[in-house]
Amino acid sequence: MSECIPLSVPCIGANEWRYVEDCLKSGWVSSAGGYVGMFEEAVRRYTGAKHAVACVNGTSALHTALLACGVRPGDEIIVPTITFIAAVNAIRYAGAEPVFMDCDEYFNIDAEKTAEFILTHTRLFGRATRNSSTGRRIGALLPVHVFGNAADLEELASLCRQRRIPVVEDATEALGTWYTGRGTAGKRHAGLIGQAGCLSFNGNKIITTGGGGMIITDSPALAHRARYLTTQAKDDATYYVHNEVGYNYRMSNLNAAVGVAQMERLGAHLEKKRANYRLYRKQLADAEGMRLAPVPPYAENNLWMYALRLEGRSPRRMRDRIMGRLRSRGVETRPLWYPNHLQKPYRRCLAYRIERAESMWRSTLNLPCSVDLTPEDVSRVVEELKRA
Ligand SMILES: Cc1ncc(COP(=O)(O)O)c(C=O)c1O
Repeated sequence: MSECIPLSVPCIGANEWRYVEDCLKSGWVSSAGGYVGMFEEAVRRYTGAKHAVACVNGTSALHTALLACGVRPGDEIIVPTITFIAAVNAIRYAGAEPVFMDCDEYFNIDAEKTAEFILTHTRLFGRATRNSSTGRRIGALLPVHVFGNAADLEELASLCRQRRIPVVEDATEALGTWYTGRGTAGKRHAGLIGQAGCLSFNGNKIITTGGGGMIITDSPALAHRARYLTTQAKDDATYYVHNEVGYNYRMSNLNAAVGVAQMERLGAHLEKKRANYRLYRKQLADAEGMRLAPVPPYAENNLWMYALRLEGRSPRRMRDRIMGRLRSRGVETRPLWYPNHLQKPYRRCLAYRIERAESMWRSTLNLPCSVDLTPEDVSRVVEELKRA
């Protein structure tokens, strides 16, 4: 059999080796040293954010951003059920409870139903919005830009502003995704619609640092708070005075050295993702019972992940059969995340009108999406799909 085609492998160039070597030689491998600042500056400049705070991973960025937005134990956080569980776990780390929402056709939080929930099930009391039935404060909205598709946030964010609900965007998959300015926000990078956005540089993302994350924000106070919390809440670094419980969440200089080199390649990675998306779409156009999932028209999406929607009577059976068949032919595909409102730790949490998420889960298969995927690889995946 010819070589395997994994779902996603990182694309590493010569400068990654060079900067890591430089970092190792300098001896500054942990938090101090220049690369963390350089990486933050590169991401800040690219996204147009006023501030960027590097973290050890996307999950810690989410946890920190929630805390920095004032989320407290006992709060409720509105979150989509379709997301990698890390976003939901971050809510629990903050001592809060998720309230699950349905998804739209782009796998993102259903903005209409979410607005309906806020308008009909919550009330603004003074400075905070509370769930009318539980009385708990709505601590934040945590939308996720799933697969790099920009969530339909512009109107929802405006409702949240009126209701004093902070918006923390999980933009972990969305570096390179831009709102094109349908609403009042103008051209904005994903993660900068709400108070804070969180990026991930895990090995499968559009650029990687091995493990890594970053909070982007326009708020100096939020950035300052995030930096404080991610560095053990040091009030006096010389005499070890800590007035709060902080976290060891700061990115290491070694990881950041990889990140600086990867940022130099981001434009090229985006080009390749887009070219391969077009290739998949063209080659799958005549495939029966399957189509490449659409992407939202109101944004320039980074096309990080290619999702296939299966049509037909038993999509779940078809999904599993295709996945098994492709695996035996050396092609890795993966299903959509299992909806979080059905996961054991979260089964008892509130869930509002979830009507689409489960069928999306049954009928979706993610296709190989590495930056280095060649046209021949794409053709081979499509051929195997058609045969299966
Ligand atoms: C949607 C989503 N949220 C959160 C995370 C967590 O990021 P990390 O793995 O960097 O902690 C990931 C990725 O891994 C993700 O895909």
